[in-house]
Amino acid sequence: MRIPEATVESIRERVDIAELIKEYVPALKRAGRAWKACCPFHQERTPSFNVNVERQIFHCFGCQKGGDAFKFLMEMEHLSFPEAVTKLGERVGIRVEPQERELSPIAREALKIREALAFAREFYGKVLETAPEAAEARRYLDKRGLSPEMRKAWGIGFALGDGHSFLQSAGRKGFATEVLVKAGLAGSRDGMPPRDFFRYRILYPITSVKGETIGFGARAMGEAQPKYLNSPDTPVFSKSRVLYGLHEGLSEIRKARQVLLLEGYMDVLAVHQYGIKTATAPLGTAVTPDHAALIKRYADSVVFVFDPDNAGASAALRGAELLLEQGLSVRIATIPDGLDPDELLHRDDRPAFDAVLKKAVDLPEFQTTRARARVGGDIGAEEKSQIAKEVLATISKSQDEVLKAEWTRRLGERLGVDLGALLKQLHKVGVEEPRFRRPAVPEPPRVASPSISPVERMMLLALLASPALAGDAAKVVESDFASSVSQRIFCALRDHGARGAIAAVDALEPADAAVARSLLMEGGVGDPATVLEAQVKDLRAVRRYKELHPKYLRMASGELAKDPSIIEEHARLMKVLNDRRLLSRI
Ligand code: UTP
Ligand code: MN
Repeated sequence: MRIPEATVESIRERVDIAELIKEYVPALKRAGRAWKACCPFHQERTPSFNVNVERQIFHCFGCQKGGDAFKFLMEMEHLSFPEAVTKLGERVGIRVEPQERELSPIAREALKIREALAFAREFYGKVLETAPEAAEARRYLDKRGLSPEMRKAWGIGFALGDGHSFLQSAGRKGFATEVLVKAGLAGSRDGMPPRDFFRYRILYPITSVKGETIGFGARAMGEAQPKYLNSPDTPVFSKSRVLYGLHEGLSEIRKARQVLLLEGYMDVLAVHQYGIKTATAPLGTAVTPDHAALIKRYADSVVFVFDPDNAGASAALRGAELLLEQGLSVRIATIPDGLDPDELLHRDDRPAFDAVLKKAVDLPEFQTTRARARVGGDIGAEEKSQIAKEVLATISKSQDEVLKAEWTRRLGERLGVDLGALLKQLHKVGVEEPRFRRPAVPEPPRVASPSISPVERMMLLALLASPALAGDAAKVVESDFASSVSQRIFCALRDHGARGAIAAVDALEPADAAVARSLLMEGGVGDPATVLEAQVKDLRAVRRYKELHPKYLRMASGELAKDPSIIEEHARLMKVLNDRRLLSRI
């Protein structure tokens, strides 16, 4: 899809980048001329993410990501450029018409896959609601207490057991079998013709944050194995990056800045049905750093709800630690009697579930209680030491120093151990076991800014402020720059500067673009033309001086015959450079 340049520009003009970013990064704060926060794209403790409101760009000095409002949305929501433009257009009331024929082959394929998945959702939903063969599935869902309203709203469906009714119907609608296979809706084994991927299962459509159907979770009827089957990963679906229920609960989650993490599809459905819309679940996978990043876009805290005695409990605990490490506030709620949320709600109703949530405790507290229960009765010195180590390992993962201190103090009280000893131990855990400290998304090494001399820097700043100057060969040329990065930035400004500095920066390779953008973040210079002229003069003087100086030395030592014009020029340059305080830098 090619969106007319004029449309892109009018959307750009109406969007305020700071306002946009603040919605995703609430911590964004004004610091002098710039706005700053910890970078949403990598793990860090000190803010290197900057927003320049005058230029309407952002730049992270840590991970080097940066660009305009469209770029921000592309990175944040994993959108293509046209999608980001469309989305920002909606925000400012400019409609972007999709023109499918101009899509790239990859985007066209993804679109076809999404269309097939949307069709599948509708098809399977209709089968569940109307097919005589689905009567047993309807009875089953009724028995499980899922309301007809929920069934419709979440698009629950049913796949018949014949293995071909979906393929046939999709074929009649014009979907190519190849697309259906790529969408994970059909598959073939041992060279046999493709069959429906889902057979005799209840289907839970899985939606992206944007609300598109991207896959299905499928529960067996009765005792068939596996109990749950997910769509295979496809170009539009990757199961370790999705949370079931996130789209449906998004507005509540944004309001509450909180997410409930449950274990299963049925739990999410039941909790939503009982009016708590922040409930989500991973798709039968462990919690990943991708989940953490997804959650952090919309919430600051997570409540895990799980059965502490179940086999998945230790995986859930590791997930909780991972989220803590990623800077989320984490609490754990446990359900009594080995029930899951779905069963508890249907047995004891909403107040019982609210009570469970109310009793949620933070991670160190949860671990301490669990370890105390495991040991039982009086605990000896060795056991105290063991428990302390375990809990301190978790405490050390938090990024919040006040919390760490408070948790450690509380642990001391619970175990009857001297706080000083615990603090010493905490320090050891941090120092001796660096793996506990390593964030799951490692902080990228700061890229040393390439050597650009102060003079070249000023020249580039002037050119970035007024790119038209780069087109005037009488004022400055490529060979005026000594460093190759500066040369490339200059050439981009010379060749693309007519569309503005940002467009020129976008035309650069990512590493060069990052350098240029970090210069842009510094703001402007006085009058660009005057600054440029003065700097070019300095630069040429420096260069000429460097050329003459060795000759001058040889003349001074008598090695070379004295040439008065050179000696005079050398003296003049030396004075100029000294006045400009450049001599000492050569
Ligand atoms: P549960 O067995 O607790 O699922 O597994 P559930 O949703 O409560 O199922 P019901 O209530 O019996 O219908 C929890 C989650 O683990 C994943 C699924 O995501 C499930 O929702 N799972 C479970 C699988 O991926 N495969 C399986 O075979 C079983
Ligand atoms: Mn269940």
